[in-house]
Amino acid sequence: MASFLLFLSASVLFAQSTAAFNCAKAPIYVDIHKRAVHGTDVFQYGSFIGVGNPSQNQSLWPSLIRNDTIITDSNYCDHSTLANCAQSTRGNFDTSLSTSFVQEKNFQSLDHNITDLNGTFTGEFGQDDLHLYTHFFETDGASQNVVSKYTIEVATNGSAAPGIVGMGYSSTLLQTLYDQNLIAGRTYSLYIGSGMDRAGGVINGSNVFGGYDAGRFQGDVHKYPMRTDNASPFPVTVQDIIISDGGDSTSNISLFDPASFSNLKTRPDPFEARLTTEQYPLSLPYEITQNYIKKLSAGPSGNSDGSLKLNKPFAGTMTIILDDGFTITMPNNVMFNTSGISPVAARDENSTDPFLLSVAFLSQVYLMADYDTYQFFLATAIQEQKAVMPRTFCPKATPTPYIPPKASGFAQQGMIGAVIGGVVGGIGLISFASCLFLGLRSSRAAKKAERAEEEEKARGKATMLQFDIDDKTDFEAPPKTATPFFWNKR
Ligand SMILES: *[C@@H]1O[C@H](CO)[C@@H](O)[C@H](O)[C@H]1NC(C)=O
Ligand SMILES: *[C@@H]1O[C@H](CO)[C@@H](O)[C@H](O)[C@H]1NC(C)=O
Ligand SMILES: *[C@@H]1O[C@H](CO)[C@@H](O)[C@H](O)[C@H]1NC(C)=O
Ligand SMILES: *[C@@H]1O[C@H](CO)[C@@H](O)[C@H](O)[C@H]1NC(C)=O
Ligand SMILES: *[C@@H]1O[C@H](CO)[C@@H](O)[C@H](O)[C@H]1NC(C)=O
Ligand SMILES: *[C@@H]1O[C@H](CO)[C@@H](O)[C@H](O)[C@H]1NC(C)=O
Ligand SMILES: *[C@@H]1O[C@H](CO)[C@@H](O)[C@H](O)[C@H]1NC(C)=O
Ligand SMILES: *[C@@H]1O[C@H](CO)[C@@H](O)[C@H](O)[C@H]1NC(C)=O
Ligand SMILES: *[C@@H]1O[C@H](CO)[C@@H](O)[C@H](O)[C@H]1NC(C)=O
Repeated sequence: MASFLLFLSASVLFAQSTAAFNCAKAPIYVDIHKRAVHGTDVFQYGSFIGVGNPSQNQSLWPSLIRNDTIITDSNYCDHSTLANCAQSTRGNFDTSLSTSFVQEKNFQSLDHNITDLNGTFTGEFGQDDLHLYTHFFETDGASQNVVSKYTIEVATNGSAAPGIVGMGYSSTLLQTLYDQNLIAGRTYSLYIGSGMDRAGGVINGSNVFGGYDAGRFQGDVHKYPMRTDNASPFPVTVQDIIISDGGDSTSNISLFDPASFSNLKTRPDPFEARLTTEQYPLSLPYEITQNYIKKLSAGPSGNSDGSLKLNKPFAGTMTIILDDGFTITMPNNVMFNTSGISPVAARDENSTDPFLLSVAFLSQVYLMADYDTYQFFLATAIQEQKAVMPRTFCPKATPTPYIPPKASGFAQQGMIGAVIGGVVGGIGLISFASCLFLGLRSSRAAKKAERAEEEEKARGKATMLQFDIDDKTDFEAPPKTATPFFWNKR
């Protein structure tokens, strides 16, 4: 019932907004995983984006705070203090190798408020073409959308890794995509995944510009206002944090509970925390951090990101509860990896730094943001999914997850198999089939899916999605030394 109402309200909003936005426009899906990048032989985790002509490919990290997109000049590491620089820049860019790069000496960046950022850069601005790659299936090549004459910063010196897609609330990329009529509206969704080195995981992430991946989240979708008076546009309020150490419910301890922690005189107030990708570990208030240290026997890890290390094995989980009831559990492999490192940062008693729900949190959460109405949505991420289901995220609409049909052969066979088998029927399935359509286009199955789609259209049913992405190109080969070969979807 609840999801029906959600669907209904989404449809109403959808209908209202179609006048102002071209919501028939397909979203642009850009996968996040480890891959070969220009200028180094080390695979790096990030968004598959190329710059210039010919395309110098990068693996860009999404920032929720920066407005500009930054790439690394090929001489960056001559000056930078970034550790392990040559292998950490997420690709580099040689302006002289691009036939289309035009320097923009007078470009005025919006990015001045550096307090919430992981490092700063000096560089030059210039216009060039941006190639947004989509790579769904291991066996297929990547397809691309080209953003022409986009202004990018080429970092020549700094202390951290450039290679950043700026998705702050005045994101120049989102605005340019919208201005060039490449997406329906200024909407964007992010699953950061857990394939980066610090997380040590294998789950890949994705960006969806002008859309969301309906297969990437489940359960209730929670709505929050974006902040427009601060460089961090995604604040939420944390009401409780519960450590469960695997036993019965008596083993659940709230880090806010004065009865469990004698240093608390009263229960602490809920606190505002910002969503960020600028760091991996969470930054929590000092007294909460102290309780975490006490409960889990934590101490310094020596890791440069400030993460605490647990000095005793821990088999439990940590649950974060927001003030609207959204509940996210950090699984045990995030809480305690075999080196004992944990996802909470140390904090000084008098620190005035903001509280952060960072990459460790976002690896469990799907973020969907509407920069046209300044609101964002959070839902529980589905970590492993057989298929990618990008859908248009019309401004003002509420994203809805894909609900698999109950106990049918379809679900058991897996979605890809079903489409190949031509088991298509009903409006939900047809829009789902058209999601898969692009990825399957080059294969024989695509012809079947296409036929089924044509038939469905002929019967007068609207399809919710259409893909019109440029020609397929070959995916660049990984370095020969790389094992295993990383040629994959997502
Ligand atoms: C993530 O992407 C890598 C390629 O970088 C691939 O090898 C791996 O199988 C993918 N992981 C999952 C869970 O799909
Ligand atoms: C991004 O732009 C907005 C202005 O629209 C500004 O308030 C914000 O501080 C900028 N971000 C950074 C990192 O400076
Ligand atoms: C940065 O943002 C903070 C609020 O988050 C504000 O107090 C400060 O003045 C801003 N600084 C600049 C340089 O814009
Ligand atoms: C590069 O930046 C570092 C700090 O990150 C600074 O110490 C150094 O002087 C800068 N070098 C140049 C050439 O600008
Ligand atoms: C645990 O995390 C640390 C920090 O990211 C990493 O260096 C280490 O390799 C991880 N250990 C395992 C076994 O995954
Ligand atoms: C409390 O403990 C029980 C049993 O371990 C568990 O099922 C439940 O989810 C826990 N509650 C929270 C909020 O973590
Ligand atoms: C932030 O910068 C440090 C080095 O300055 C780096 O080790 C860390 O990985 C960076 N974090 C992210 C999320 O990029
Ligand atoms: C924090 O501030 C208080 C009050 O000014 C002071 O007594 C205390 O020593 C400070 N703590 C640290 C770690 O600096
Ligand atoms: C960048 O990646 C695209 C898509 O896979 C590929 O066509 C192109 O050749 C790559 N560029 C280089 C310089 O390898």
